[in-house]
Amino acid sequence: MKAIAINCSPRVNQNTDRMVRAALDGCAEAGFETEHYSLYQNGRFTGCLSCFGCKRAPHEGECIVNDGMKEILDRIREADVVILGTPNYLGDVSAGFRSLFERMQFSNLTYQKEQRWYNTFNKEVLLIMSSNAPEEWYDQFGYTDILEKYRKSFDAWLGHTETAVAGNTLQVSDYSRYNWTMFDPEKKKESREKQFPKDLAKARKLGLEAAGRAAEKNG
Ligand SMILES: Cc1cc2nc3c(=O)[nH]c(=O)nc-3n(C[C@H](O)[C@H](O)[C@H](O)COP(=O)(O)O)c2cc1C
Repeated sequence: MKAIAINCSPRVNQNTDRMVRAALDGCAEAGFETEHYSLYQNGRFTGCLSCFGCKRAPHEGECIVNDGMKEILDRIREADVVILGTPNYLGDVSAGFRSLFERMQFSNLTYQKEQRWYNTFNKEVLLIMSSNAPEEWYDQFGYTDILEKYRKSFDAWLGHTETAVAGNTLQVSDYSRYNWTMFDPEKKKESREKQFPKDLAKARKLGLEAAGRAAEKNG
């Protein structure tokens, strides 16, 4: 059984990446083979190019654009658990996450009345978002709706999907280097020390549980 995690933040080993790695550790604990990618480190990539190569034999249901994302898309197809992490960028997902989403979903869409998807995968999916906004603000800011939109989409064609949030993240290690009056560096530090370990533990637990469900379904 395989689990794959994709960090769709340009930053490696920061909030989003640490959350996806924690979830992946949960899968490793369940005995899964694990693989990790940082999307922005895997070569240049684009969103969907509307070439329709995915809608013609012999590549129906498969993105044919051969760039840094291709390997990741191919590996996702083989995985039993898929962990996707994105930072919140301007109230939405990162451009990298959106590019991955476009290419994953559009390549699977048939445009046929009779059958909507080329492949109806039965994976377990974990969608993670990290943000400056604390999780308690998600409903009010509309972030819950954004996560729910992607969750429902993955649920429909990739497999059962759950979400996790790391809110009130530490954006930089030294806030004194910037003239940022919006944040209280002490409170940010406190959140990193007290809240973030809880978020990591939650991600790990969700990873472990997702692996359990995947093993039950496909093991
Ligand atoms: C371009 C950009 C836009 C952002 N927009 C938001 C936002 O709208 N809401 C929010 O809560 N955080 C926002 N943030 C903060 C990040 O979501 C947050 O720091 C996140 O944890 C960063 O993830 P990383 O550490 O994995 O890069 C933004 C950060 C950047 C760089």
